[in-house]
Amino acid sequence: MSTARPGTQNRTQHRAQNRTQHRAQNRTQHRTQNRTLRVGIAGGGAIFRNHLEAYRALQDVEVVALCDIDAERAGAVAAAHGIQHAFGSVTDLLAWRGADGRGIDLISVCTPHPTHEAVVTEAAAAGVHVLCEKPIAIDLEAAERMVVACREASVTFGVLFQRRFWPAAQRIRAAIDDGTLGTPILGHCSVLLHREPEYYSATDWRGTWASDGGGVLMTQGIHYIDLLQWFMGEVVEVHGHMATFVHGDHIEVEDSAVATLRFASGAIATVQASTAVTPSLGVQVRVTGSTGATAQVTEFPEGTDGRVDIWAAGDSVGAQETWPSSLNPNVDLAAINGALIPWHRAQVADFVDAVRTGGTPAVTGEEATKSLRILLAVYESSRTGKPVVF
Ligand SMILES: NC(=O)c1ccc[n+]([C@@H]2O[C@H](COP(=O)([O-])OP(=O)(O)OC[C@H]3O[C@@H](n4cnc5c(N)ncnc54)[C@H](O)[C@@H]3O)[C@@H](O)[C@H]2O)c1
Repeated sequence: MSTARPGTQNRTQHRAQNRTQHRAQNRTQHRTQNRTLRVGIAGGGAIFRNHLEAYRALQDVEVVALCDIDAERAGAVAAAHGIQHAFGSVTDLLAWRGADGRGIDLISVCTPHPTHEAVVTEAAAAGVHVLCEKPIAIDLEAAERMVVACREASVTFGVLFQRRFWPAAQRIRAAIDDGTLGTPILGHCSVLLHREPEYYSATDWRGTWASDGGGVLMTQGIHYIDLLQWFMGEVVEVHGHMATFVHGDHIEVEDSAVATLRFASGAIATVQASTAVTPSLGVQVRVTGSTGATAQVTEFPEGTDGRVDIWAAGDSVGAQETWPSSLNPNVDLAAINGALIPWHRAQVADFVDAVRTGGTPAVTGEEATKSLRILLAVYESSRTGKPVVF
């Protein structure tokens, strides 16, 4: 990895909290630093393989067990991937003990968003470190309870936002930190994606407010809202609109949304997100700083590594084609998830390092709550017609 670790600038806010956590984690560290870490994975669906391969790329880490509420799936997926133990509940997974009496040290949570809280808090209560998929939760109260549960149990808690590990994202973050861009003043986040109706019907939980918590903002947009706020700082006001244009006969959540954001620094930004775009135009996150310099990271086609396609500073403009016509924009979901594996690997490595050293992972629960707060404010603003001021 190059330059700044993702999340660096936000860590000072939690220093006091972290000191307490570090003391407790130091005790854990003594127990874990010289031996193979045992990992369990909850949820054997689409994103499971990214976590499995990420852990398997690390030394002295072993994925020993998988659980899924669909016990048959747990057994079949575990067998197909050479995982020794399979369970039908997280409770049974956490109760598992090896011949030496030791259970798992950490768990990856790859279950649908509304189940994250129950899995994370049960794992924390069992003294197991937790790496949870995004979004951390579908409401702020649940996110807060998860953060508190992990803090009180003195376990390390990380949340997946693997795109922060793109070298392109790191380069922009570093240019903000070293003054090349100056203080961010203007931002833009464009998430123009395509989803087939089958994407929503393939699982029993996508597309409803109760079981998915939202649409394009909650599931896809959150990654890039996270990047935007990581670049630009604390958001203090959100005004948004949402609509369902093409997926209305099979989902109740939004397939499209726009928002304006105002930051504590006085900076402003716009967001647009949709899964109603055919073909997909991928994603751009763009920042202009107080020096006048602008940088943009593009992910096109969706699932490819972000690349800096605009770097304009002083009197020079370095630009690549944002949408090269030689690239096929129509990638399927399995290919998108597969292409994310290197970045899951980078974040899982960071998390395991934090567990071993008693350090702070790049994206903590508090950090992961920021993007959730922003997108929930878009929903609220869209419903009330008024801006939401934090
Ligand atoms: N970081 C990323 O880029 C990325 C990409 C895809 C998905 N995700 C996230 O990963 C999570 C899972 O998504 P998915 O696409 O793999 O979903 P999925 O529906 O394909 O798989 C979820 C699995 O979890 C199981 N499950 C449900 N409740 C459970 C429980 N309480 N305990 C154990 N197992 C349970 C289901 O039976 C299913 O097998 C979501 O929160 C999603 O947002 C993140």
